Amino acid sequence: MAIFYTNMVILMEIYEGKAKKMIPLDDGKVIMEFKDDATAFNGEKKAQFKGKGWLNAKISAILFKILEEKGIKTHFIGIAGDNKLIVEKLQMYPVEVVVRNVVAGSLKKRLPLEEGTELPEPIVELYYKNDALGDPMINHHHAKVLGVSESELREIEGIALKVNEILREYFTQKGIILVDFKLEFGKNERGEIILGDEISPDTCRFWDVETKESLDKDVFRFDKGELINAYEELYKRLTA
Ligand code: ADP
Ligand code: TMP
Ligand code: ASP
Repeated sequence: MAIFYTNMVILMEIYEGKAKKMIPLDDGKVIMEFKDDATAFNGEKKAQFKGKGWLNAKISAILFKILEEKGIKTHFIGIAGDNKLIVEKLQMYPVEVVVRNVVAGSLKKRLPLEEGTELPEPIVELYYKNDALGDPMINHHHAKVLGVSESELREIEGIALKVNEILREYFTQKGIILVDFKLEFGKNERGEIILGDEISPDTCRFWDVETKESLDKDVFRFDKGELINAYEELYKRLTA
């Protein structure tokens, strides 16, 4: 079954996740609609912030464009409205790839290092994207059981590190430390590995270089202030 929406045919397998709605079209593209909902700690903490969807859509679009310009293949096609992007439909890998430059968040539970310590080189971590299991950390052996081959993992990790280099330099110019971030990858119809999902303050840690103040979802996770103010400040710096 299909319905028509702004001249595009929408197939009826709409997926609604915690932060976005994915609306597949009949031409291999997907409308990615960013919601105002925020969740943390595997959905335990929930709230809504008017304007968050708009900000995350715009910030993701800016970052995907920068990456495309530097030769990274992403699913980004264009902006489709206030809080919507058009992206290429991918077969997603069930793996979240986290890259870390500075000690923060869950890394403090793994290494005896203080928050804010710069790492000698970036750390890449893999997590199994599975809410019921609480997104556990996995290694290459686990990922292979989940159907991701060694060569795919190497390519994915290589792209993640390249994304880190590009974004780290970009954010440094904006007076922001890229502390860590999470990426998701998928395969397109031609079998290419493509960077998917979003890159936004929901999925990255950004600190002001001077004050070390958070400009990301940690503001909500750890009650550090007004989420929208932090996201707006980030957007302002990216568009200044
Ligand atoms: P969650 O599923 O964790 O609640 P979201 O609310 O962000 O997360 O939903 C977006 C979903 O869309 C995620 O499951 C993500 O893996 C998936 N996704 C991201 N990009 C694409 C894409 N280009 N094609 C198909 N699915 C995608
Ligand atoms: P962590 O320190 O809590 O493991 O988070 C590492 C990075 O990954 C941080 O930038 C936030 C991001 N992240 C997500 O995008 N989704 C998640 O579900 C989690 C736990 C972290
Ligand atoms: N994204 C996860 C959740 O929705 C956790 C987090 O980002 O802290 O609960």
